[in-house]
Amino acid sequence: MSLVSGRVEGKRAIVTGAGSGIGRATAERLAREGARVALLDIDLEAAEGAAEGLRAQGLEVCAIRMDVTSEPSVEASVSEAVASFGGLDIVIANAAVQLFGEDDRADRLALDVWRRTLDVNLTGCFLTCKYGVRALLASGGGSVVITASPTGLFGRARGFDAYSASKAGTYGLTRVMANDYARDGIRVNCVIPGFTDTSLVASIMQDDSTREAVLETVPLGRPGSADEVASAILFLASDEAAYCTGSALTCDGGITAV
Ligand SMILES: NC(=O)c1ccc[n+]([C@@H]2O[C@H](COP(=O)([O-])OP(=O)(O)OC[C@H]3O[C@@H](n4cnc5c(N)ncnc54)[C@H](O)[C@@H]3O)[C@@H](O)[C@H]2O)c1
Repeated sequence: MSLVSGRVEGKRAIVTGAGSGIGRATAERLAREGARVALLDIDLEAAEGAAEGLRAQGLEVCAIRMDVTSEPSVEASVSEAVASFGGLDIVIANAAVQLFGEDDRADRLALDVWRRTLDVNLTGCFLTCKYGVRALLASGGGSVVITASPTGLFGRARGFDAYSASKAGTYGLTRVMANDYARDGIRVNCVIPGFTDTSLVASIMQDDSTREAVLETVPLGRPGSADEVASAILFLASDEAAYCTGSALTCDGGITAV
Protein backbone atom coordinates (compact mmCIF):
# COMPACT_ATOMS: atom_id res chain seq x y z
CA MET A 1 0.00 0.00 0.00
CA SER A 2 1.34 3.45 -0.87
CA LEU A 3 2.21 5.77 1.96
CA VAL A 4 0.18 8.96 1.91
CA SER A 5 1.23 10.70 5.06
CA GLY A 6 -0.44 13.39 6.98
CA ARG A 7 -4.18 12.69 6.78
CA VAL A 8 -4.37 12.60 10.58
CA GLU A 9 -1.11 14.43 11.30
CA GLY A 10 -0.74 15.44 14.92
CA LYS A 11 -3.88 13.59 16.07
CA ARG A 12 -3.92 11.30 19.09
CA ALA A 13 -5.90 8.08 18.78
CA ILE A 14 -7.00 4.97 20.66
CA VAL A 15 -8.05 1.77 18.88
CA THR A 16 -9.70 -1.11 20.75
CA GLY A 17 -9.19 -4.65 19.50
CA ALA A 18 -5.95 -3.43 17.93
CA GLY A 19 -4.09 -6.70 18.45
CA SER A 20 -5.64 -8.29 15.39
CA GLY A 21 -7.60 -7.88 12.17
CA ILE A 22 -9.39 -4.62 11.43
CA GLY A 23 -8.23 -2.92 14.65
CA ARG A 24 -4.60 -3.71 13.96
CA ALA A 25 -4.85 -2.52 10.34
CA THR A 26 -6.60 0.66 11.51
CA ALA A 27 -3.93 1.42 14.11
CA GLU A 28 -1.33 1.01 11.40
CA ARG A 29 -3.16 3.27 8.90
CA LEU A 30 -3.67 5.98 11.53
CA ALA A 31 -0.02 5.84 12.61
CA ARG A 32 1.25 5.92 9.02
CA GLU A 33 -0.93 8.95 8.39
CA GLY A 34 0.68 10.86 11.23
CA ALA A 35 -1.32 10.02 14.38
CA ARG A 36 0.08 8.88 17.68
CA VAL A 37 -1.84 5.68 18.43
CA ALA A 38 -2.54 3.57 21.53
CA LEU A 39 -3.24 -0.05 20.60
CA LEU A 40 -5.66 -1.43 23.18
CA ASP A 41 -6.54 -5.10 23.47
CA ILE A 42 -7.36 -7.74 26.05
CA ASP A 43 -4.51 -9.70 24.44
CA LEU A 44 -1.55 -7.54 25.44
CA GLU A 45 0.95 -9.78 23.68
CA ALA A 46 -0.87 -9.30 20.36
CA ALA A 47 -1.10 -5.53 20.87
CA GLU A 48 2.60 -5.37 21.82
CA GLY A 49 3.53 -7.41 18.75
CA ALA A 50 1.61 -5.03 16.47
CA ALA A 51 3.05 -1.96 18.23
CA GLU A 52 6.61 -3.25 18.00
CA GLY A 53 6.33 -3.62 14.22
CA LEU A 54 5.08 -0.04 13.93
CA ARG A 55 7.72 1.39 16.26
CA ALA A 56 10.35 -0.31 14.12
CA GLN A 57 9.07 1.86 11.24
CA GLY A 58 9.57 4.96 13.38
CA LEU A 59 5.87 5.40 14.17
CA GLU A 60 4.71 6.69 17.55
CA VAL A 61 2.53 4.02 19.13
CA CYS A 62 2.05 2.27 22.47
CA ALA A 63 0.28 -0.91 23.54
CA ILE A 64 -1.96 -1.06 26.61
CA ARG A 65 -4.00 -3.96 27.98
CA MET A 66 -7.71 -3.15 28.05
CA ASP A 67 -10.69 -5.40 28.72
CA VAL A 68 -13.60 -3.48 27.22
CA THR A 69 -16.06 -5.31 29.49
CA SER A 70 -14.47 -3.89 32.65
CA GLU A 71 -15.18 -0.26 33.49
CA PRO A 72 -12.04 0.14 35.68
CA SER A 73 -9.90 -1.36 32.91
CA VAL A 74 -11.37 0.94 30.25
CA GLU A 75 -11.05 4.01 32.47
CA ALA A 76 -7.44 3.19 33.39
CA SER A 77 -6.28 2.39 29.88
CA VAL A 78 -7.90 5.46 28.32
CA SER A 79 -6.30 7.63 31.03
CA GLU A 80 -2.93 6.03 30.38
CA ALA A 81 -3.19 6.77 26.65
CA VAL A 82 -4.36 10.35 27.30
CA ALA A 83 -1.54 10.91 29.80
CA SER A 84 1.10 9.68 27.39
CA PHE A 85 -0.24 11.72 24.42
CA GLY A 86 -1.38 14.79 26.38
CA GLY A 87 -4.97 14.51 25.08
CA LEU A 88 -7.14 12.58 22.62
CA ASP A 89 -8.68 13.31 19.20
CA ILE A 90 -9.80 9.96 17.77
CA VAL A 91 -11.59 6.99 19.37
CA ILE A 92 -11.99 3.76 17.40
CA ALA A 93 -14.40 1.42 19.25
CA ASN A 94 -13.75 -1.81 17.41
CA ALA A 95 -13.21 -4.79 19.78
CA ALA A 96 -15.77 -7.58 19.47
CA VAL A 97 -16.30 -11.32 19.60
CA GLN A 98 -18.48 -13.63 17.52
CA LEU A 99 -19.02 -16.89 19.38
CA PHE A 100 -19.11 -19.46 16.58
CA GLY A 101 -20.55 -22.78 17.78
CA GLU A 102 -22.20 -21.06 20.76
CA ASP A 103 -24.28 -18.22 19.35
CA ASP A 104 -27.62 -19.56 18.10
CA ARG A 105 -31.20 -18.75 17.23
CA ALA A 106 -33.16 -17.45 20.23
CA ASP A 107 -34.88 -20.63 21.39
CA ARG A 108 -31.53 -22.42 21.68
CA LEU A 109 -29.38 -19.49 22.77
CA ALA A 110 -27.84 -19.84 26.24
CA LEU A 111 -28.20 -16.72 28.38
CA ASP A 112 -24.49 -16.87 29.19
CA VAL A 113 -23.58 -16.72 25.48
CA TRP A 114 -25.98 -13.80 24.95
CA ARG A 115 -24.45 -11.98 27.93
CA ARG A 116 -20.82 -12.59 26.93
CA THR A 117 -21.52 -11.35 23.41
CA LEU A 118 -23.45 -8.25 24.49
CA ASP A 119 -20.87 -7.54 27.19
CA VAL A 120 -17.94 -7.28 24.78
CA ASN A 121 -19.68 -5.97 21.68
CA LEU A 122 -22.19 -3.47 23.06
CA THR A 123 -21.31 -2.72 26.69
CA GLY A 124 -17.63 -2.66 25.68
CA CYS A 125 -18.41 -0.21 22.90
CA PHE A 126 -20.40 1.96 25.33
CA LEU A 127 -17.60 1.96 27.93
CA THR A 128 -14.99 2.81 25.29
CA CYS A 129 -17.19 5.70 24.15
CA LYS A 130 -17.91 6.81 27.73
CA TYR A 131 -14.26 7.32 28.66
CA GLY A 132 -13.12 8.11 25.14
CA VAL A 133 -15.68 10.89 24.73
CA ARG A 134 -14.79 12.35 28.14
CA ALA A 135 -11.22 12.68 26.88
CA LEU A 136 -12.39 14.17 23.55
CA LEU A 137 -14.51 16.72 25.43
CA ALA A 138 -11.47 17.67 27.50
CA SER A 139 -9.44 18.06 24.29
CA GLY A 140 -12.08 20.31 22.69
CA GLY A 141 -13.64 17.83 20.23
CA GLY A 142 -12.77 14.92 17.99
CA SER A 143 -14.04 11.90 16.15
CA VAL A 144 -15.45 8.50 17.18
CA VAL A 145 -15.70 5.58 14.79
CA ILE A 146 -17.54 2.43 15.84
CA THR A 147 -17.17 -0.87 13.99
CA ALA A 148 -20.71 -2.13 13.36
CA SER A 149 -21.85 -4.89 10.96
CA PRO A 150 -24.44 -5.68 8.28
CA THR A 151 -25.80 -8.24 10.78
CA GLY A 152 -26.99 -5.32 12.89
CA LEU A 153 -29.00 -3.88 10.00
CA PHE A 154 -30.54 -7.01 8.46
CA GLY A 155 -31.57 -10.40 9.83
CA ARG A 156 -29.23 -12.13 7.47
CA ALA A 157 -26.90 -13.94 9.88
CA ARG A 158 -29.27 -16.77 10.66
CA GLY A 159 -28.35 -18.41 14.01
CA PHE A 160 -26.21 -15.48 15.21
CA ASP A 161 -28.89 -13.79 17.27
CA ALA A 162 -26.65 -12.45 20.05
CA TYR A 163 -24.01 -11.10 17.64
CA SER A 164 -26.66 -9.51 15.37
CA ALA A 165 -28.44 -7.86 18.31
CA SER A 166 -25.15 -6.56 19.71
CA LYS A 167 -24.24 -4.99 16.37
CA ALA A 168 -27.70 -3.43 16.00
CA GLY A 169 -27.01 -1.82 19.37
CA THR A 170 -23.77 -0.27 18.15
CA TYR A 171 -25.63 1.23 15.18
CA GLY A 172 -28.22 2.81 17.50
CA LEU A 173 -25.50 4.10 19.83
CA THR A 174 -23.70 5.70 16.85
CA ARG A 175 -26.76 7.71 15.84
CA VAL A 176 -27.83 8.92 19.27
CA MET A 177 -24.27 9.85 20.23
CA ALA A 178 -23.89 11.76 16.95
CA ASN A 179 -26.83 13.89 18.07
CA ASP A 180 -25.67 14.10 21.71
CA TYR A 181 -22.21 15.45 20.89
CA ALA A 182 -22.58 17.33 17.59
CA ARG A 183 -22.56 20.71 19.35
CA ASP A 184 -19.44 19.69 21.29
CA GLY A 185 -17.43 19.29 18.10
CA ILE A 186 -17.47 15.50 18.31
CA ARG A 187 -18.51 13.46 15.26
CA VAL A 188 -19.69 9.87 15.75
CA ASN A 189 -19.90 7.50 12.79
CA CYS A 190 -19.80 3.78 12.19
CA VAL A 191 -18.27 1.60 9.54
CA ILE A 192 -20.10 -1.47 8.27
CA PRO A 193 -17.53 -4.04 7.17
CA GLY A 194 -18.79 -6.99 5.19
CA PHE A 195 -17.22 -10.44 5.19
CA THR A 196 -13.61 -9.50 6.03
CA ASP A 197 -10.68 -11.90 6.13
CA THR A 198 -9.67 -11.82 9.82
CA SER A 199 -9.38 -14.32 12.66
CA LEU A 200 -12.98 -13.50 13.65
CA VAL A 201 -14.30 -15.40 10.63
CA ALA A 202 -11.46 -17.96 10.34
CA SER A 203 -13.89 -20.85 10.70
CA ILE A 204 -15.83 -19.62 7.63
CA MET A 205 -12.70 -18.87 5.61
CA GLN A 206 -11.22 -22.32 6.27
CA ASP A 207 -14.29 -24.29 5.21
CA ASP A 208 -14.55 -24.26 1.39
CA SER A 209 -18.28 -24.83 1.10
CA THR A 210 -19.23 -22.33 3.84
CA ARG A 211 -16.85 -19.73 2.39
CA GLU A 212 -18.32 -20.17 -1.10
CA ALA A 213 -21.88 -19.95 0.27
CA VAL A 214 -21.03 -16.69 2.04
CA LEU A 215 -19.25 -15.28 -1.02
CA GLU A 216 -22.38 -16.01 -3.12
CA THR A 217 -24.03 -13.20 -1.13
CA VAL A 218 -21.23 -10.72 -1.85
CA PRO A 219 -21.66 -8.79 -5.15
CA LEU A 220 -17.90 -8.21 -5.45
CA GLY A 221 -17.44 -11.97 -5.04
CA ARG A 222 -14.53 -11.89 -2.59
CA PRO A 223 -13.91 -11.18 1.08
CA GLY A 224 -12.70 -7.73 2.07
CA SER A 225 -9.30 -7.21 3.68
CA ALA A 226 -8.67 -5.58 7.04
CA ASP A 227 -6.71 -2.86 5.19
CA GLU A 228 -9.72 -2.02 3.04
CA VAL A 229 -11.91 -1.56 6.11
CA ALA A 230 -9.15 0.45 7.81
CA SER A 231 -9.23 2.87 4.86
CA ALA A 232 -12.93 3.54 5.46
CA ILE A 233 -12.30 4.03 9.20
CA LEU A 234 -9.38 6.38 8.48
CA PHE A 235 -11.63 8.54 6.29
CA LEU A 236 -14.35 8.79 8.98
CA ALA A 237 -11.77 9.50 11.69
CA SER A 238 -10.05 12.24 9.70
CA ASP A 239 -11.06 15.84 9.05
CA GLU A 240 -11.87 14.80 5.46
CA ALA A 241 -15.17 13.57 6.95
CA ALA A 242 -15.83 16.89 8.71
CA TYR A 243 -19.49 17.00 7.60
CA CYS A 244 -20.20 13.33 8.37
CA THR A 245 -21.79 12.46 11.67
CA GLY A 246 -24.29 9.72 12.51
CA SER A 247 -23.42 8.00 9.25
CA ALA A 248 -22.88 4.32 8.52
CA LEU A 249 -20.24 3.84 5.83
CA THR A 250 -20.52 0.42 4.22
CA CYS A 251 -17.30 -1.32 3.19
CA ASP A 252 -18.90 -4.64 2.42
CA GLY A 253 -18.40 -5.60 -1.22
CA GLY A 254 -22.03 -4.64 -1.85
CA ILE A 255 -23.72 -7.03 0.63
CA THR A 256 -26.09 -4.40 1.98
CA ALA A 257 -26.98 -3.10 -1.49
CA VAL A 258 -28.89 -6.24 -2.44
N1 LIG B 1 -14.30 -9.92 10.09
C1 LIG B 1 -15.54 -9.69 9.64
O1 LIG B 1 -16.01 -10.33 8.70
C2 LIG B 1 -16.36 -8.59 10.27
C3 LIG B 1 -17.57 -8.24 9.65
C4 LIG B 1 -18.36 -7.23 10.20
C5 LIG B 1 -17.93 -6.59 11.35
N2 LIG B 1 -16.76 -6.96 11.94
C6 LIG B 1 -16.37 -6.25 13.15
O2 LIG B 1 -15.06 -5.76 13.01
C7 LIG B 1 -14.48 -5.59 14.31
C8 LIG B 1 -13.08 -6.17 14.34
O3 LIG B 1 -13.19 -7.56 14.11
P1 LIG B 1 -12.05 -8.41 13.39
O4 LIG B 1 -12.71 -9.09 12.26
O5 LIG B 1 -10.86 -7.58 13.18
O6 LIG B 1 -11.81 -9.52 14.53
P2 LIG B 1 -10.50 -10.06 15.27
O7 LIG B 1 -10.96 -11.24 16.03
O8 LIG B 1 -9.39 -10.22 14.29
O9 LIG B 1 -10.14 -8.86 16.27
C9 LIG B 1 -10.89 -8.60 17.42
C10 LIG B 1 -9.95 -8.11 18.50
O10 LIG B 1 -10.75 -7.75 19.65
C11 LIG B 1 -10.04 -8.18 20.81
N3 LIG B 1 -10.95 -8.37 21.94
C12 LIG B 1 -11.84 -9.37 22.14
N4 LIG B 1 -12.44 -9.23 23.34
C13 LIG B 1 -11.94 -8.10 23.89
C14 LIG B 1 -12.13 -7.44 25.13
N5 LIG B 1 -13.00 -7.93 26.06
N6 LIG B 1 -11.46 -6.31 25.38
C15 LIG B 1 -10.56 -5.82 24.47
N7 LIG B 1 -10.29 -6.41 23.30
C16 LIG B 1 -10.98 -7.55 23.02
C17 LIG B 1 -9.39 -9.49 20.38
O11 LIG B 1 -8.32 -9.85 21.26
C18 LIG B 1 -8.95 -9.17 18.97
O12 LIG B 1 -7.63 -8.64 18.95
C19 LIG B 1 -15.45 -6.21 15.29
O13 LIG B 1 -16.25 -5.20 15.86
C20 LIG B 1 -16.32 -7.10 14.40
O14 LIG B 1 -17.60 -7.33 14.95
C21 LIG B 1 -15.95 -7.94 11.43
